[in-house]
Amino acid sequence: MVRWTADELRQAFIDFFVSKGHAHKPGSSLVPKNDPTILLTSAGMVQFKPYFMGTETPDVRRVTTYQRCLRTGDIENVGSTDRHATFFEMLGNFSFGDYFKEEAIRWAWEFVTERMELPRERLWATIYLDDDEAFQIWHEQIGLPRERIVRLGKEDNFWEIGVGPCGPCSEIHYDRGPQFGCGRDDCRPGCDCERFMEIWNLVFIQFYQDEAGQLTPLEQKGIDTGMGLERAASILQGVGSIFEVDLVRPILDEVARLAGTRYGADPEKDVSLRVITDHLRGIVFLVYDGVLPSNEGRGYVLRRLLRRAALHGRLLGLEEPFLGALVGRVVEQMKAGYPELLAQQEHIRQVIDWEERRFGETLDQGVQLLEEALNRVEAQGTKVLDGEQVFRLYDTYGFPVELTKELAAARGVEVDEAGFQQQMELQRSRARAAREATGYMGKPGVERYAELAREVPPTRFTGYERLEEEAQVLALLVDGQPVVEARAGDQVEIVLDRTPFYAESGGQVPDRGTLTGPGGQVEVEDVQRPVAGVVVHRGRVRSGRIRRDEVVLATVDAHHRWDTARNHTATHLLHQALRDALGQHAHQAGSLVHPEYLRFDFTHFQGLDRGQLRELEEEVNHRILQALPVTTTEMAYEEAIAAGAIALFDEKYGERVRVVAIGEYSKELCGGTHVHSSAQVGPFKIIQEGSVAAGVRRITALTGHGTLKLVTELDEGWDRLARLLGTTRDQVPQQVERLAAQVEELQGKLQKMLDQQATSLADQLLERAERVNGAAVVVASLPGLGKEQLRAMGDRVRERLRSAAVLLGTERDGRVQLVAMATPDLVAKGFHAGRVVQAAAKEVGGGGGGRPDMAEAGGRQPERLEQALAVGKETLKAQLGAAAGLAGDGPTPGEP
Ligand code: ALA
Repeated sequence: MVRWTADELRQAFIDFFVSKGHAHKPGSSLVPKNDPTILLTSAGMVQFKPYFMGTETPDVRRVTTYQRCLRTGDIENVGSTDRHATFFEMLGNFSFGDYFKEEAIRWAWEFVTERMELPRERLWATIYLDDDEAFQIWHEQIGLPRERIVRLGKEDNFWEIGVGPCGPCSEIHYDRGPQFGCGRDDCRPGCDCERFMEIWNLVFIQFYQDEAGQLTPLEQKGIDTGMGLERAASILQGVGSIFEVDLVRPILDEVARLAGTRYGADPEKDVSLRVITDHLRGIVFLVYDGVLPSNEGRGYVLRRLLRRAALHGRLLGLEEPFLGALVGRVVEQMKAGYPELLAQQEHIRQVIDWEERRFGETLDQGVQLLEEALNRVEAQGTKVLDGEQVFRLYDTYGFPVELTKELAAARGVEVDEAGFQQQMELQRSRARAAREATGYMGKPGVERYAELAREVPPTRFTGYERLEEEAQVLALLVDGQPVVEARAGDQVEIVLDRTPFYAESGGQVPDRGTLTGPGGQVEVEDVQRPVAGVVVHRGRVRSGRIRRDEVVLATVDAHHRWDTARNHTATHLLHQALRDALGQHAHQAGSLVHPEYLRFDFTHFQGLDRGQLRELEEEVNHRILQALPVTTTEMAYEEAIAAGAIALFDEKYGERVRVVAIGEYSKELCGGTHVHSSAQVGPFKIIQEGSVAAGVRRITALTGHGTLKLVTELDEGWDRLARLLGTTRDQVPQQVERLAAQVEELQGKLQKMLDQQATSLADQLLERAERVNGAAVVVASLPGLGKEQLRAMGDRVRERLRSAAVLLGTERDGRVQLVAMATPDLVAKGFHAGRVVQAAAKEVGGGGGGRPDMAEAGGRQPERLEQALAVGKETLKAQLGAAAGLAGDGPTPGEP
């Protein structure tokens, strides 16, 4: 056996198939392009589905790749076996209508026996039940003994990917030896144990499988193979599992080091180490391929992997976020195969770190909640965790349901999944109801337009060249129903045979304008393409009537269109400037091109500071001032990408694409409308930068008229300020500073005066104090004071007396406020201020209370304030008398 590193094996595989006439093509993103039928790239053939199906023609018929893959189907097995992973690399060779079974098997055999030098006696083959042709090749041409050729059923030896090309397959297995096995007599490839490791799957593509699972023979046959890089390397390197090959082991060791443990020291910890290692590789590549954590689709896969890894970290005692710190290690291991990882390392680290931190915050609470719920389940002895509980953990604490399942299973409790799904559905219908309530979907269904599309030919769009066009009304709808005529005031939908109107798409708002017929005019407010091929103009008949079949003059509002075009061209300039300034990871995550502004969302983790925004603005303005020609070309998608044009993630492109170039500076696939020269964009100005979601920033900016309007507003604003401040524009800041200093000074003076006033009022009250049993009694009405001021005055008086009881009242805005206070010595003797205010408040039709040393009350009869104070005073005095009598105290010395 050769002793290759995984990097060497990857290269040897590619070189081998290149020597057999294959073109080496790059593996594709984990995010499949143009394929809504699958979430993630799970095999090397995914990017070639159209070639197998014959819907697209490849430039070469033999191709070889190494492909990063992600599969979550076996996620529960990951960690506890030697061979399962969610992330792995697949080495593949493909034939699109070129060679078939014989070559595929012969070359695979040559590679494993002559290049990898695997011992022949350890190799087995599996074939599909009735595939005698494959049997013949293995047995007669290759010379594999019949007892090492195993026939297996659909489950094992028929390969399919949901919707798409598929066919019977033949796998090569390696016998690792009986010490890895289950010991059963009939242990052979196909057995669940760890003895036979499948290393290579050769698929004989012959059918197309549709949504319903129906198979149709394909016109041309093909070959699709996949060798698991990590598995094959584990054999060459003589290690026990895929986690120990040179590509992966250093990551595992680093995780162990962080957790203060060693791989092999504790079987339970080993599981966690392997889970974290595997998931981390997947997470890094998902982010690398543009996926961000979310609650749906790929984002959810990413979130789920990350959370599982973080939880296993907890099991190892890693309480703090640790995944971000491991990104560097993964990049180091993988950079030979994926050099572009390096440039994105920091971005990947930030995304992971951010998500892990956020998860950590809710994790503790969630785990606790789950523990409690599980305790209850145990106490009840039901062994099932109800769906509502599971939903709550999902919705509030971000626990993927699979995770809850795992944690519950560890305590022998099952999860009510149907109940959980029911809760999910409830939530969905709540959201739907909310949408409907806001009229979000108040438009005719897509089916109606699909019907329309069958009745009328596709609308020809002429708006790239013209803003005005004579066109025929092919369909006229009122309230979603076809009509022959519509009259002034009617809301209509109109389909023309051709149109200069741009239908909303790619983030660009629709054109506005008018349709003028022989007998009337329609104001076009919205233009949509609800189904491919049909452009629908929506608006109101402004005057006269409009009829089906008549010819109208379709006129686009030029002002609206050109302002929009300015913002669209500026969006491309900004996109390029951002990528240059921040790195390739800063790609478009959303965009709105409006006549008044542009809004651009992009993936990036930090906010941009003032300096960066200034530089971006300068760069974009610089490109504008260069008056770069804006040109559009149609070409093949591959050609456009090869020429370096930016394509958007998730966007579906046809075979021919439109490329918009701004000089040599920017090239983007785009169907929008643009200006002819960058100079027409006019002045560019960023007015806002902020965050819209985790890892997504948003820039809002103006161009042309928008910027000019802003400048005018700023100009007028300064003038107004200067006028208000009684100075010139250049003196405004100094004048404001002067005024602020003045205000501060005056406030100081005012406070001093108020203090003095209060002190003298307190003096007056003290002078009028009566004495009862040695305690001073202050009862007064202070009209005009607020509640706070009344309390402050009470404090002021009390502070200056050693032994005193105070009752103050005020009247303001038709309401009475009362406050009573007493010094601690009186309180100690049993005095209670609450009783005083209560008695007084009764007189003014109110109530209140408080502590023995301070109580407040209010009332609604200000005309009875004096009376209330008199009653209060009686209560107060009575209490003092009683207190003195009870405690037998003499007069308090030291009073004024
Ligand atoms: N597409 C085949 C597989 O993934 C090779 O096993």
